[in-house]
Amino acid sequence: KPIVLSGCQPSGQLSIGNYIGALRQWVRMQDTHDCRFMLVDLHAITVRQDPAKLREATLDGLALYMACGLDPQKSTIFVQSHVPEHAQLAWILNCYTQMGELNRMTQFKDKSDRHANNINAGLFTYPALMAADILLYQANQVPVGNDQKQHLELSRDIAIRFNNIYGDVFTVPDPFIPEVGARVMSLQDPLKKMSKSDDNPNNFIGLLEEPKKISKKLKRAVTDSDEQARIYFDVEEKPGVSNLLSILSAATGKPIAELVPEYEDKMYGHLKTDTADAVVAMLEPIQQRYHDYRANMDFLNEVMGKGADQASAYAAETLQKVYDVIGFVPRP
Ligand code: AQP
Repeated sequence: KPIVLSGCQPSGQLSIGNYIGALRQWVRMQDTHDCRFMLVDLHAITVRQDPAKLREATLDGLALYMACGLDPQKSTIFVQSHVPEHAQLAWILNCYTQMGELNRMTQFKDKSDRHANNINAGLFTYPALMAADILLYQANQVPVGNDQKQHLELSRDIAIRFNNIYGDVFTVPDPFIPEVGARVMSLQDPLKKMSKSDDNPNNFIGLLEEPKKISKKLKRAVTDSDEQARIYFDVEEKPGVSNLLSILSAATGKPIAELVPEYEDKMYGHLKTDTADAVVAMLEPIQQRYHDYRANMDFLNEVMGKGADQASAYAAETLQKVYDVIGFVPRP
Protein backbone atom coordinates (compact mmCIF):
# COMPACT_ATOMS: atom_id res chain seq x y z
CA LYS A 1 0.00 0.00 0.00
CA PRO A 2 1.26 3.53 -0.73
CA ILE A 3 2.33 5.41 2.39
CA VAL A 4 0.45 8.57 3.32
CA LEU A 5 1.43 11.22 5.85
CA SER A 6 -0.27 14.41 6.91
CA GLY A 7 -1.08 16.54 9.94
CA CYS A 8 -2.76 19.62 11.38
CA GLN A 9 -1.31 22.20 13.73
CA PRO A 10 -2.98 22.42 17.14
CA SER A 11 -2.74 26.19 16.81
CA GLY A 12 -6.44 26.69 17.53
CA GLN A 13 -9.65 24.82 16.92
CA LEU A 14 -9.56 22.87 13.66
CA SER A 15 -11.61 24.67 11.01
CA ILE A 16 -13.86 23.57 8.18
CA GLY A 17 -10.90 24.53 5.97
CA ASN A 18 -8.77 21.85 7.64
CA TYR A 19 -11.63 19.36 7.36
CA ILE A 20 -12.62 20.02 3.75
CA GLY A 21 -9.09 20.59 2.46
CA ALA A 22 -7.37 17.78 4.33
CA LEU A 23 -9.03 15.63 6.99
CA ARG A 24 -11.88 14.46 4.80
CA GLN A 25 -9.42 13.10 2.27
CA TRP A 26 -7.47 11.37 5.02
CA VAL A 27 -10.55 9.49 6.16
CA ARG A 28 -11.15 8.22 2.64
CA MET A 29 -7.55 7.10 2.18
CA GLN A 30 -7.45 4.83 5.22
CA ASP A 31 -8.63 1.69 3.42
CA THR A 32 -6.42 2.03 0.39
CA HIS A 33 -3.25 3.50 1.92
CA ASP A 34 -0.89 2.93 4.81
CA CYS A 35 -1.69 6.15 6.71
CA ARG A 36 0.06 8.18 9.40
CA PHE A 37 -1.65 11.27 10.77
CA MET A 38 -0.21 13.55 13.40
CA LEU A 39 -0.91 16.68 15.37
CA VAL A 40 2.06 18.86 14.61
CA ASP A 41 2.69 20.65 17.88
CA LEU A 42 6.33 21.35 16.98
CA HIS A 43 5.05 23.36 14.02
CA ALA A 44 2.47 25.14 16.15
CA ILE A 45 5.11 26.79 18.36
CA THR A 46 6.53 28.72 15.41
CA VAL A 47 3.83 31.13 16.57
CA ARG A 48 3.69 31.85 20.30
CA GLN A 49 1.17 29.53 22.00
CA ASP A 50 -0.35 29.65 25.44
CA PRO A 51 0.78 26.36 27.10
CA ALA A 52 -2.64 25.40 28.50
CA LYS A 53 -4.36 26.19 25.21
CA LEU A 54 -1.79 24.26 23.20
CA ARG A 55 -2.34 21.19 25.38
CA GLU A 56 -6.12 21.50 25.06
CA ALA A 57 -5.99 22.07 21.32
CA THR A 58 -3.80 18.99 20.87
CA LEU A 59 -6.19 16.74 22.79
CA ASP A 60 -9.20 18.35 21.10
CA GLY A 61 -7.54 17.77 17.74
CA LEU A 62 -6.91 14.15 18.55
CA ALA A 63 -10.54 13.60 19.56
CA LEU A 64 -11.66 15.47 16.45
CA TYR A 65 -9.46 13.33 14.20
CA MET A 66 -11.33 10.27 15.40
CA ALA A 67 -14.70 12.03 15.39
CA CYS A 68 -14.10 12.86 11.73
CA GLY A 69 -13.47 9.18 11.01
CA LEU A 70 -9.77 8.50 11.51
CA ASP A 71 -9.50 5.03 12.95
CA PRO A 72 -6.51 4.10 15.16
CA GLN A 73 -7.00 0.45 14.14
CA LYS A 74 -6.36 1.37 10.51
CA SER A 75 -4.02 4.35 10.77
CA THR A 76 -1.14 5.48 12.93
CA ILE A 77 -2.33 8.55 14.82
CA PHE A 78 0.20 10.41 16.94
CA VAL A 79 1.49 13.66 18.37
CA GLN A 80 4.60 14.99 16.63
CA SER A 81 6.53 15.92 19.79
CA HIS A 82 6.20 12.31 21.02
CA VAL A 83 8.48 11.20 18.20
CA PRO A 84 11.84 12.99 18.63
CA GLU A 85 13.10 11.87 15.22
CA HIS A 86 11.07 14.71 13.66
CA ALA A 87 13.22 17.34 15.35
CA GLN A 88 16.38 15.33 14.72
CA LEU A 89 15.84 14.95 10.99
CA ALA A 90 14.62 18.55 10.72
CA TRP A 91 18.01 19.79 11.95
CA ILE A 92 19.77 17.74 9.33
CA LEU A 93 17.46 18.87 6.53
CA ASN A 94 18.01 22.48 7.59
CA CYS A 95 21.57 21.93 6.46
CA TYR A 96 20.35 20.85 3.02
CA THR A 97 17.88 23.71 2.53
CA GLN A 98 18.88 27.04 1.09
CA MET A 99 17.96 30.41 2.63
CA GLY A 100 16.85 31.54 -0.83
CA GLU A 101 14.35 28.67 -1.04
CA LEU A 102 12.89 29.49 2.37
CA ASN A 103 12.73 33.17 1.46
CA ARG A 104 10.33 32.37 -1.33
CA MET A 105 7.74 30.67 0.89
CA THR A 106 4.51 32.66 0.89
CA GLN A 107 3.38 31.26 4.25
CA PHE A 108 6.50 32.69 5.87
CA LYS A 109 5.74 36.07 4.35
CA ASP A 110 2.08 35.95 5.44
CA LYS A 111 2.87 34.78 8.94
CA SER A 112 5.72 37.20 9.47
CA ASP A 113 3.34 40.02 8.51
CA ARG A 114 0.78 38.74 11.00
CA HIS A 115 3.31 38.10 13.78
CA ALA A 116 5.73 40.94 13.20
CA ASN A 117 6.89 40.90 16.84
CA ASN A 118 8.01 37.27 16.65
CA ILE A 119 9.61 36.44 13.32
CA ASN A 120 11.63 33.55 14.73
CA ALA A 121 14.03 31.17 13.00
CA GLY A 122 11.56 28.29 13.45
CA LEU A 123 8.93 30.12 11.44
CA PHE A 124 11.52 30.55 8.70
CA THR A 125 12.66 26.91 8.69
CA TYR A 126 9.14 25.47 9.10
CA PRO A 127 9.34 23.82 5.65
CA ALA A 128 12.46 21.84 6.66
CA LEU A 129 10.55 20.38 9.62
CA MET A 130 7.66 19.59 7.31
CA ALA A 131 10.07 17.86 4.93
CA ALA A 132 11.37 15.83 7.88
CA ASP A 133 7.81 14.83 8.85
CA ILE A 134 7.17 13.46 5.40
CA LEU A 135 10.55 11.96 4.53
CA LEU A 136 10.90 10.11 7.86
CA TYR A 137 8.03 7.84 6.84
CA GLN A 138 9.06 7.51 3.19
CA ALA A 139 5.59 8.82 2.32
CA ASN A 140 4.44 8.45 -1.27
CA GLN A 141 1.49 10.78 -0.96
CA VAL A 142 0.75 13.83 1.15
CA PRO A 143 -2.91 14.91 1.16
CA VAL A 144 -2.96 18.67 1.82
CA GLY A 145 -4.93 21.77 0.96
CA ASN A 146 -3.68 23.92 -1.87
CA ASP A 147 -2.06 26.31 0.62
CA GLN A 148 0.58 23.71 1.46
CA LYS A 149 1.53 22.96 -2.14
CA GLN A 150 4.57 25.23 -2.10
CA HIS A 151 5.95 23.61 1.07
CA LEU A 152 5.43 20.19 -0.40
CA GLU A 153 7.32 21.12 -3.53
CA LEU A 154 10.21 22.20 -1.34
CA SER A 155 10.08 18.86 0.49
CA ARG A 156 10.40 17.14 -2.87
CA ASP A 157 13.36 19.34 -3.84
CA ILE A 158 15.10 18.61 -0.53
CA ALA A 159 14.55 14.86 -0.96
CA ILE A 160 15.86 14.91 -4.51
CA ARG A 161 18.90 16.96 -3.48
CA PHE A 162 19.71 14.62 -0.63
CA ASN A 163 19.26 11.55 -2.82
CA ASN A 164 21.52 13.03 -5.48
CA ILE A 165 24.32 13.31 -2.95
CA TYR A 166 23.85 10.10 -0.96
CA GLY A 167 21.85 7.66 -3.11
CA ASP A 168 18.24 6.58 -2.72
CA VAL A 169 17.62 7.46 0.91
CA PHE A 170 14.22 9.17 0.65
CA THR A 171 11.04 8.48 -1.26
CA VAL A 172 10.08 11.61 -3.20
CA PRO A 173 6.50 12.42 -2.12
CA ASP A 174 3.62 13.46 -4.37
CA PRO A 175 1.01 15.99 -3.34
CA PHE A 176 -2.61 14.93 -3.19
CA ILE A 177 -4.84 17.99 -3.40
CA PRO A 178 -8.64 17.69 -3.53
CA GLU A 179 -10.55 19.21 -6.45
CA VAL A 180 -13.29 20.83 -4.40
CA GLY A 181 -12.41 22.79 -1.29
CA ALA A 182 -8.66 22.72 -1.76
CA ARG A 183 -8.66 26.28 -0.50
CA VAL A 184 -11.54 27.33 1.70
CA MET A 185 -11.40 31.10 1.95
CA SER A 186 -11.93 33.50 4.83
CA LEU A 187 -15.59 34.49 5.28
CA GLN A 188 -14.92 38.21 5.70
CA ASP A 189 -11.99 38.44 3.30
CA PRO A 190 -12.45 35.80 0.62
CA LEU A 191 -9.16 36.72 -1.03
CA LYS A 192 -7.22 35.06 1.79
CA LYS A 193 -7.54 31.48 3.03
CA MET A 194 -9.57 30.50 6.05
CA SER A 195 -7.20 30.04 9.02
CA LYS A 196 -7.99 28.63 12.43
CA SER A 197 -5.71 31.18 14.09
CA ASP A 198 -7.23 34.22 12.39
CA ASP A 199 -7.55 37.17 14.77
CA ASN A 200 -11.12 37.76 13.62
CA PRO A 201 -13.27 34.75 14.61
CA ASN A 202 -15.85 35.76 11.99
CA ASN A 203 -13.39 34.69 9.33
CA PHE A 204 -13.47 30.99 10.13
CA ILE A 205 -15.78 28.23 11.27
CA GLY A 206 -14.40 25.86 13.88
CA LEU A 207 -15.45 22.21 13.80
CA LEU A 208 -16.81 22.50 17.33
CA GLU A 209 -18.90 25.62 16.92
CA GLU A 210 -22.58 25.73 17.80
CA PRO A 211 -25.11 25.67 14.95
CA LYS A 212 -26.42 29.15 15.82
CA LYS A 213 -22.96 30.64 15.66
CA ILE A 214 -22.20 28.88 12.38
CA SER A 215 -25.39 30.28 10.81
CA LYS A 216 -24.61 33.74 12.08
CA LYS A 217 -21.08 33.69 10.67
CA LEU A 218 -22.24 32.43 7.28
CA LYS A 219 -25.07 34.96 7.09
CA ARG A 220 -22.54 37.70 7.75
CA ALA A 221 -20.11 36.34 5.16
CA VAL A 222 -18.97 38.91 2.63
CA THR A 223 -20.63 38.53 -0.76
CA ASP A 224 -19.78 40.48 -3.84
CA SER A 225 -21.25 43.88 -4.51
CA ASP A 226 -21.66 43.94 -8.25
CA GLU A 227 -24.72 45.55 -9.81
CA GLN A 228 -26.69 42.39 -10.31
CA ALA A 229 -26.53 40.10 -7.33
CA ARG A 230 -26.25 36.98 -9.47
CA ILE A 231 -24.97 33.69 -8.11
CA TYR A 232 -22.30 32.02 -10.21
CA PHE A 233 -18.85 30.56 -9.75
CA ASP A 234 -15.95 32.85 -10.63
CA VAL A 235 -13.20 33.18 -8.04
CA GLU A 236 -11.80 36.33 -9.62
CA GLU A 237 -15.03 38.28 -10.02
CA LYS A 238 -17.11 36.70 -7.29
CA PRO A 239 -14.69 35.46 -4.59
CA GLY A 240 -17.24 35.59 -1.75
CA VAL A 241 -20.06 33.85 -3.61
CA SER A 242 -17.66 31.31 -5.11
CA ASN A 243 -16.35 30.49 -1.64
CA LEU A 244 -19.88 29.86 -0.38
CA LEU A 245 -20.61 27.68 -3.41
CA SER A 246 -17.43 25.68 -2.76
CA ILE A 247 -18.32 25.19 0.89
CA LEU A 248 -21.88 24.19 -0.02
CA SER A 249 -20.57 21.78 -2.63
CA ALA A 250 -18.10 20.23 -0.20
CA ALA A 251 -20.76 19.91 2.51
CA THR A 252 -23.46 18.42 0.29
CA GLY A 253 -21.32 16.45 -2.16
CA LYS A 254 -23.12 18.14 -5.07
CA PRO A 255 -20.83 19.45 -7.82
CA ILE A 256 -20.73 23.24 -8.19
CA ALA A 257 -21.98 22.99 -11.79
CA GLU A 258 -25.11 21.33 -10.48
CA LEU A 259 -25.62 23.87 -7.69
CA VAL A 260 -25.33 27.04 -9.77
CA PRO A 261 -28.55 26.54 -11.85
CA GLU A 262 -30.46 25.93 -8.60
CA TYR A 263 -29.67 29.51 -7.57
CA GLU A 264 -30.47 31.19 -10.87
CA ASP A 265 -33.39 33.23 -9.54
CA LYS A 266 -32.38 33.24 -5.92
CA MET A 267 -30.69 35.79 -3.71
CA TYR A 268 -27.47 35.74 -1.73
CA GLY A 269 -29.52 35.18 1.42
CA HIS A 270 -30.76 31.82 0.10
CA LEU A 271 -27.26 30.67 -0.68
CA LYS A 272 -26.08 31.67 2.78
CA THR A 273 -28.93 29.92 4.56
CA ASP A 274 -28.48 26.73 2.55
CA THR A 275 -24.72 26.78 3.12
CA ALA A 276 -25.23 27.27 6.85
CA ASP A 277 -27.72 24.38 7.01
CA ALA A 278 -25.39 22.12 5.05
CA VAL A 279 -22.37 22.95 7.23
CA VAL A 280 -24.38 22.40 10.42
CA ALA A 281 -25.59 19.03 9.10
CA MET A 282 -22.05 18.05 8.12
CA LEU A 283 -20.69 18.92 11.57
CA GLU A 284 -23.47 17.56 13.76
CA PRO A 285 -22.39 13.89 13.83
CA ILE A 286 -18.73 14.92 14.14
CA GLN A 287 -19.49 17.06 17.19
CA GLN A 288 -21.46 14.27 18.84
CA ARG A 289 -18.67 11.76 18.44
CA TYR A 290 -16.07 14.33 19.50
CA HIS A 291 -17.65 14.76 22.93
CA ASP A 292 -17.52 11.01 23.60
CA TYR A 293 -13.86 10.72 22.61
CA ARG A 294 -12.80 13.86 24.43
CA ALA A 295 -14.35 12.65 27.68
CA ASN A 296 -12.38 9.40 27.53
CA MET A 297 -8.81 10.36 28.45
CA ASP A 298 -7.76 6.73 28.95
CA PHE A 299 -8.63 6.00 25.36
CA LEU A 300 -6.89 9.13 24.07
CA ASN A 301 -3.75 8.13 25.99
CA GLU A 302 -3.91 4.65 24.56
CA VAL A 303 -4.17 6.00 21.01
CA MET A 304 -1.30 8.46 21.52
CA GLY A 305 0.92 5.84 23.14
CA LYS A 306 0.37 3.22 20.48
CA GLY A 307 0.66 5.81 17.71
CA ALA A 308 3.97 7.15 19.05
CA ASP A 309 5.42 3.62 19.32
CA GLN A 310 4.41 2.73 15.78
CA ALA A 311 5.64 6.02 14.34
CA SER A 312 8.92 5.90 16.26
CA ALA A 313 9.79 2.43 15.03
CA TYR A 314 9.51 3.55 11.44
CA ALA A 315 11.09 6.97 11.94
CA ALA A 316 14.11 5.57 13.77
CA GLU A 317 14.91 3.32 10.82
CA THR A 318 14.98 6.23 8.36
CA LEU A 319 16.95 8.45 10.73
CA GLN A 320 19.59 5.74 11.18
CA LYS A 321 19.92 5.42 7.43
CA VAL A 322 20.42 9.18 7.17
CA TYR A 323 23.02 9.22 9.97
CA ASP A 324 24.92 6.43 8.25
CA VAL A 325 25.08 8.00 4.80
CA ILE A 326 26.06 11.40 6.21
CA GLY A 327 29.02 9.88 8.02
CA PHE A 328 28.01 10.03 11.68
CA VAL A 329 29.82 7.41 13.75
CA PRO A 330 27.31 4.84 15.10
CA ARG A 331 26.69 5.03 18.82
CA PRO A 332 28.47 2.03 20.41
N1 AQP B 1 -8.53 27.22 4.26
C1 AQP B 1 -8.13 26.00 3.94
N2 AQP B 1 -8.62 25.37 2.86
C2 AQP B 1 -8.21 24.11 2.55
N3 AQP B 1 -7.31 23.42 3.26
C3 AQP B 1 -6.79 24.01 4.34
N4 AQP B 1 -5.90 23.59 5.25
C4 AQP B 1 -5.72 24.57 6.17
N5 AQP B 1 -6.48 25.62 5.88
C5 AQP B 1 -7.17 25.31 4.74
C6 AQP B 1 -5.23 22.31 5.22
O1 AQP B 1 -5.34 21.73 6.50
C7 AQP B 1 -4.16 20.98 6.77
C8 AQP B 1 -3.64 21.33 8.11
O2 AQP B 1 -3.21 22.65 8.14
P1 AQP B 1 -2.36 23.15 9.37
O3 AQP B 1 -3.18 23.16 10.57
O4 AQP B 1 -1.13 22.33 9.47
O5 AQP B 1 -1.81 24.54 9.02
P2 AQP B 1 -2.28 25.65 8.10
O6 AQP B 1 -2.27 25.22 6.69
O7 AQP B 1 -1.43 26.84 8.43
O8 AQP B 1 -3.78 25.85 8.61
P3 AQP B 1 -4.38 27.07 9.34
O9 AQP B 1 -5.75 26.71 9.75
O10 AQP B 1 -4.22 28.29 8.51
O11 AQP B 1 -3.50 27.15 10.64
P4 AQP B 1 -2.85 28.43 11.25
O12 AQP B 1 -3.98 29.42 11.36
O13 AQP B 1 -2.33 28.01 12.58
O14 AQP B 1 -1.78 28.86 10.35
C9 AQP B 1 -3.19 21.27 5.67
O15 AQP B 1 -3.19 20.18 4.77
C10 AQP B 1 -3.75 22.47 4.99
O16 AQP B 1 -3.48 22.49 3.62
